[in-house]
Amino acid sequence: VELIKKYIKDNDIIVEPVIDSTNQYMLERIPHLSSGDTCLAEYQSAGRGRRGRQWISPFGCNLYLSMYWKLDQGPAAAIGLSLVVGIIIAETLNKLTKGKIKVKWPNDLYLNDKKLAGILVELTGKTGDAAHIIIGVGINIGMGKNNIEIENTINQEWASLADEVESIERNILSVNIIQALKEALTLFEKEGLSPFVNRWFELDNFLGRSVKLLIGNDVISGVEKGINQQGALLLEQDNGDIIPYIGGEISLRPN
Ligand code: BTN
Repeated sequence: VELIKKYIKDNDIIVEPVIDSTNQYMLERIPHLSSGDTCLAEYQSAGRGRRGRQWISPFGCNLYLSMYWKLDQGPAAAIGLSLVVGIIIAETLNKLTKGKIKVKWPNDLYLNDKKLAGILVELTGKTGDAAHIIIGVGINIGMGKNNIEIENTINQEWASLADEVESIERNILSVNIIQALKEALTLFEKEGLSPFVNRWFELDNFLGRSVKLLIGNDVISGVEKGINQQGALLLEQDNGDIIPYIGGEISLRPN
């Protein structure tokens, strides 16, 4: 904790052993927060995933982090912001894994074609045009592999950072993530998604692959072609048309 606070001087960093959900903790304190303030926990008793799912959060072996950001461009920019967060986490982890970490639109991280980490961006309230945003990041580190028994309860295959890296210093990793996120989000506020689009293409796990999109009850198949400047997913249909898809209720699956 002291180490994290030593390196991140201009923000509040809250580190607790046990929290219900680091996102919830930050959501409840928004009036007192400034952009970049961050909360970390060793264990979450009610960790949240996307679409109302639970995020299983065993003690002491993973990373659960939430950062507050006041987004002056307003809620519509949150999609771009969440893509930027994925890019930054992937790039930071890639310093440890020689480029093996990939992104899956809109905001999962993959290692060896399996999910390694998830991002949950929650928006609340507005002050003028600005939106208050909590960026939640859960990374499966798997140190000591003491979360293995609970993997059976998760209905997809999972990867851990420990599959690729021998020892992981979670405090140093947290400092690197916090600093990189602050820098990137500051750039995003000034210039939007454009400085990041090429970086996304470098990391896209499904680029050029045959995928299907689940949109409500519809299934659309095609070849994944990356993202556009707005952060929409580009899908090439059988007739060669490339269609952009954006929105919160779309899931991407390998075909
Ligand atoms: C997903 O469904 O893939 C997103 C998972 C996000 C989990 C993180 S862990 C830290 C933060 N606090 C939460 O309750 N959820 C996010």
